Amino acid sequence: MAKDPITAVIVGGGHRAVTYADYSLRHPEDLKIVGIADPDAERREMCRLKYGFGEDRCYESAEALAAVPRFADAVINGTMDHQHYATAVPLLEKGYDMLLEKPFAVSEDEMRRLLAVIEKNGNRVMICHVLRYSPFYIAVKKRILSGELGDIINVQMAEHVSYHHLSTSYIRGKWANSDKSKTTMLLAKSCHDIDVMAWLMQPVKPVSVSSVGSIFQFKPENAPANAGTRCTVDCPLVDTCRYSAKKIYLEHPDRWTCYAWADLEHKPDQTMEDRVKSFLNGNPYNRCIYKCDNNVVDHQAVMVNFSSGATGTFNLVGGSAKSTRTLKVVGTLGELTGVFEDNVLVESLIASDTPEGYVEAPVDLSGADAEGHGGGDDNLTADFIRYLRTGEQSVSCTAIENSVAGHLTVFKADESMRLGGALVKIDL
Ligand SMILES: NC(=O)c1ccc[n+]([C@@H]2O[C@H](COP(=O)([O-])OP(=O)(O)OC[C@H]3O[C@@H](n4cnc5c(N)ncnc54)[C@H](O)[C@@H]3O)[C@@H](O)[C@H]2O)c1
Repeated sequence: MAKDPITAVIVGGGHRAVTYADYSLRHPEDLKIVGIADPDAERREMCRLKYGFGEDRCYESAEALAAVPRFADAVINGTMDHQHYATAVPLLEKGYDMLLEKPFAVSEDEMRRLLAVIEKNGNRVMICHVLRYSPFYIAVKKRILSGELGDIINVQMAEHVSYHHLSTSYIRGKWANSDKSKTTMLLAKSCHDIDVMAWLMQPVKPVSVSSVGSIFQFKPENAPANAGTRCTVDCPLVDTCRYSAKKIYLEHPDRWTCYAWADLEHKPDQTMEDRVKSFLNGNPYNRCIYKCDNNVVDHQAVMVNFSSGATGTFNLVGGSAKSTRTLKVVGTLGELTGVFEDNVLVESLIASDTPEGYVEAPVDLSGADAEGHGGGDDNLTADFIRYLRTGEQSVSCTAIENSVAGHLTVFKADESMRLGGALVKIDL
């Protein structure tokens, strides 16, 4: 028998929430968007028209939505990192289940208070750790679960953030200054990767962590002697500096558009002239990359000890030519080696009776080239709907209780980095 669609209200109608909400347009039998809460009137109207609900279901904030009787099954919470706790709590208290963006809290204290609210109210909450839903990482998880790699000795992971992504998010953009964003780079960018490491190792738990990192590259003392302060305004190097706003953004207008020209979002037919003008008029993405107010690290190394005696290492490296996530999982019977963006995963198993001493084969990653985090965005939304309907947790399920180990490891890794690399215990 056909089931009614899950109904959801968008809270924070930005890029991420809309990505998940768009699932309803392709699968109306599964998901129906029935309202929005967002202080931005134009975003409210855009969502209202796109998903087709009345003006009476538009609210100016999560708090205003929480003030009226609950009228949907769930909330898709796509507010910014530091707003997750404050916007989630009143709606959880109201009885909404929730698809909540990462990081679901910006400190251990916030995390524990959020968990207490969820436990009290019995909500189902899933975190948008989309990588767990990509065919690449599912293939890794399934091979570990099957036992064919034996007991896991070590997980090595790295995330290389390209220079233009680094520029956009962590030097010139929204997550560059932790006093404003309330997040670190590890929390904002790589809580996904640390979450994947913790998930791959489950039920083995992380027990301690140490970490070091720094701002290596983009700081005033590394600026060329004659650099200006705003690329297209006063910099003689605008055509030669590989990091100039002209080279990164104006010459590649399809790259990072919604970030670099956020001020033009509501202009329907935005032209190149508008963009050039925006850069001349105080747009933060036109600042010299060496002279911004960034205070988050651009590279960080993390070393995790697990309860089984296994170890994990994770390297976050900003400024690379190409964005890549690499992985090697080594067990007592063999290993997996892969690159997420290249859809390459190879399994090598110990075979002492062969001339090489091992057998090796590529893993089938059919579907891994899908859009949106290797297909993860859509798969996650589908799993959220399934979870609400059945209560059953898939192998990837990012229910909040399964996402605590990763977040807590990040909080403790950052604590360790602040302490100069000291070993910090993880009490799950
Ligand atoms: N899962 C992923 O892979 C992934 C990728 C990128 C970003 N993110 C995360 O997604 C989140 C959203 O990022 P974004 O770029 O879509 O942000 P955004 O700034 O585009 O959207 C946030 C929206 O929240 C609204 N808002 C502010 N206060 C509010 C309140 N009190 N009640 C309701 N709405 C309110 C804002 O007006 C804005 O429209 C961030 O936490 C970010 O870290 C996740």
